[in-house]
Amino acid sequence: MCGIVGYIGREEAVGIIVEGLRKLEYRGYDSAGVSIIKDGKTDIRRAVGKLANLDKALRDKPIFGNTGIGHTRWATHGRPSEQNAHPHEVDGVSIVHNGILENYMELKHRLQAQGRKFKSETDTEIMSHLVASHIAEGRNLIEAVRASLKEIRGAFAFLIQHEKEPNKIVTAKTASPMVVGVGKGEMFVASDIPALLGHTRDFIILEDGQMAVLTADGVELSDFDGNALPVKTKHVDWSPVMAEKAGHKHFMHKEIHEQPTAIADTIRGRVLMEDASVHLDGVNLGDVKKLRRLIITACGTSFHAGMVGKFMIEKLARLGVDCDLASEFRYRDPVLDEETGVLAISQSGETADTLAAIKLAKSQGATVFAVCNVLESSIARECATSGGVMYTHAGPEIGVASTKAFTTQLVALYLLAIYLGRARGVLDKGAAQKCLEDLREIPSKIERVLATEASIIAIARRYAQARDFLFLGRGPNFPIALEGALKLKEISYIHAEGYSAGEMKHGPIALIDDKMPVVGIATEGPVYDKTVANLEEVRARNGKLIILATEGDSKIAAIADDVIVVPRTDPLLDPIITTIPLQLLAYHIADINGTDVDQPRNLAKSVTVE
Ligand code: M6R
Repeated sequence: MCGIVGYIGREEAVGIIVEGLRKLEYRGYDSAGVSIIKDGKTDIRRAVGKLANLDKALRDKPIFGNTGIGHTRWATHGRPSEQNAHPHEVDGVSIVHNGILENYMELKHRLQAQGRKFKSETDTEIMSHLVASHIAEGRNLIEAVRASLKEIRGAFAFLIQHEKEPNKIVTAKTASPMVVGVGKGEMFVASDIPALLGHTRDFIILEDGQMAVLTADGVELSDFDGNALPVKTKHVDWSPVMAEKAGHKHFMHKEIHEQPTAIADTIRGRVLMEDASVHLDGVNLGDVKKLRRLIITACGTSFHAGMVGKFMIEKLARLGVDCDLASEFRYRDPVLDEETGVLAISQSGETADTLAAIKLAKSQGATVFAVCNVLESSIARECATSGGVMYTHAGPEIGVASTKAFTTQLVALYLLAIYLGRARGVLDKGAAQKCLEDLREIPSKIERVLATEASIIAIARRYAQARDFLFLGRGPNFPIALEGALKLKEISYIHAEGYSAGEMKHGPIALIDDKMPVVGIATEGPVYDKTVANLEEVRARNGKLIILATEGDSKIAAIADDVIVVPRTDPLLDPIITTIPLQLLAYHIADINGTDVDQPRNLAKSVTVE
């Protein structure tokens, strides 16, 4: 999830580009760069780290010109370094890219066989070589871009310029955002509207499969085959604060709504449907048939993901899994050996307790690997010298309450479970294909849940003044009850407890009265009847019941005060769906009560103390 800005007009481009990148820094900040064309020559400055470092590089060696492209990076392929920073220039063709090219390895081998030399570890440089090679064959820039687009697969939003055609910038996109800002005698382009609001309020929002050619005086829009498309301009009236959050009131709300895209990004490039295989680049667990046990260790929300992962891995790979809170792990004497795998889960990759657990496990000979969101974070680096890292590719998560990081962790764990199941000979091709088909439907099912937000707001209004909440679930939805309670308490400061529905009769049932809202997860699955029986017990004691149920459940309304309906899916994937309404409920209760949703009191996004 990188930030992109381009400019073509009569002003000096570099200042406009860097100012736009600053507004997009939330999209990524491990390196940045600009490429400017002047007098038919390309000049590039790049720097590792935040934009301030690029500012310094530009102060030390300024560049000038009226056409340029820039980028702030959130690394996916290749560690953060100056060489891997964008733009990537080949034979006068400069490119910035947001997204992931799935077939980059095969294209790289082909281009290397043709004698092309690569300067970076990125997938983006492939595109620079492809376009340059088509120009070398005699095509102009637009034709060369079209020919290259036919060869790549994956998610992308590109800006492309060529020093021999300095009067244009070409952009093309699929699955990653890009907007064109319309000026007078100048044109702007960026991955998000906020980057350009200082210059224009008129935008062309590019759709998937579209390509635009920008000159100082206009825009031509076409599909990838070159068929012209009508240009529709949209006027945007956002305040600068609204703009940063893409029109959402809080980053948390924006991130909840980003989950369908984030999950698609986690899956992208890892699944081969034909042979039902899962590819975990960057993870090396040796002979997984020899693994006798897996310990998952993590904190907070990531720990809840691990608890769901236990259900997935035990069911699909028949490998025993224990879940250990990272903050407790090294204060007992864990039994570890070479046949034990240790999986650490962390959004930030900086959680001190999780890092300490990894170091202990490594020192005792266990193979340690991570599911992590932040490239080159401390946890990622620590695991790189053992079992490796599986990145979730959720993009930067800014709200302190973890949302899209959690659901992408669940998807990563499901992919891991299928991978282990296949490698250990437990899951045959047909069964794995069914799992992967179910997984592919998850983003659109989440869209359907998000579309019911208005009804969840109505429920939030009814219960926003409650002092305590109970969240109940069983099976793989027990961790989701814990997660629903954690979300509510951390952002609304309302006391909430998550409990296994079956454990309620062993104590918490004493809390139930007509003032206690109880959120029950009673979706279809092997524990449905038992869960409903537990919720009946709440009903019998006058508790207020908000029940999550699968669409088509005609029985549940009889016992519920409020029903939240979710789409049907496989029980192992159900937690990815059921967590969404609980995020929305917590968010809207907090918003109604006016708490600081994105930065709740006493909390930090990365907990780097033990
Ligand atoms: O970055 P990590 O995933 O390692 O962080 C772990 C917890 O600190 C984190 O999940 C925390 O519980 C969140 N605030 C929950 O929303």
